[in-house]
Amino acid sequence: DSVLSERLAAGLRDIPDYPSPGILFKDITPLLADPELFAASVDALAAAHRAGTGAEVDVVAGVEARGFIFGAAVALSLGVGFVPIRKKGKLPHTTVSAEYTLEYGTAIIEVHEDAVHPGQRVLLLDDVLATGGTAEAAAGLLEGIGAHVVSVSFLVELAFLNGRERLSGRDVKAVLSY
Ligand code: PRP
Ligand code: MG
Repeated sequence: DSVLSERLAAGLRDIPDYPSPGILFKDITPLLADPELFAASVDALAAAHRAGTGAEVDVVAGVEARGFIFGAAVALSLGVGFVPIRKKGKLPHTTVSAEYTLEYGTAIIEVHEDAVHPGQRVLLLDDVLATGGTAEAAAGLLEGIGAHVVSVSFLVELAFLNGRERLSGRDVKAVLSY
């Protein structure tokens, strides 16, 4: 609802020209530091996937680093496990990897090849949807190891960057949109 959205939005801080000129960075740290706002944001991300909603998931996946904060909390809230998608070189077992272009630079993310069972229903979470490069790469990794990505959900969508278009064919949700 709009009251909740306004409360959550008040927990975000705009940082101009970070990490590079022309980028308006959405800083989530004030929201994280506020126990009520953090809990409300986790509730909002989990709401569509609670038992009995018909959109239940078997596991939550999140992308290092900020996706871990919400992903782990939502996994606990839903009573399911958590799959970490990490930056290159951090996972110890056999991985599959994907290179992607970010709003600022390029990166490689990886997931363990056995992180999900074939057909498992996965909720992919991250803090921000910007260009969609990260989420597109992460969803592709999960699908490549047999996951069914039920939803790709974000706390914040920067709608003017059209990241949603890169996730076409998937259910994309955002708690806040700018
Ligand atoms: C940020 C953010 C998302 C991604 C969104 O992560 O947390 O993961 O960018 O951008 P995109 O939609 O254009 O791909 P970042 O790679 O900056 O690193 P962090 O999560 O480790 O802080
Ligand atoms: Mg990130």
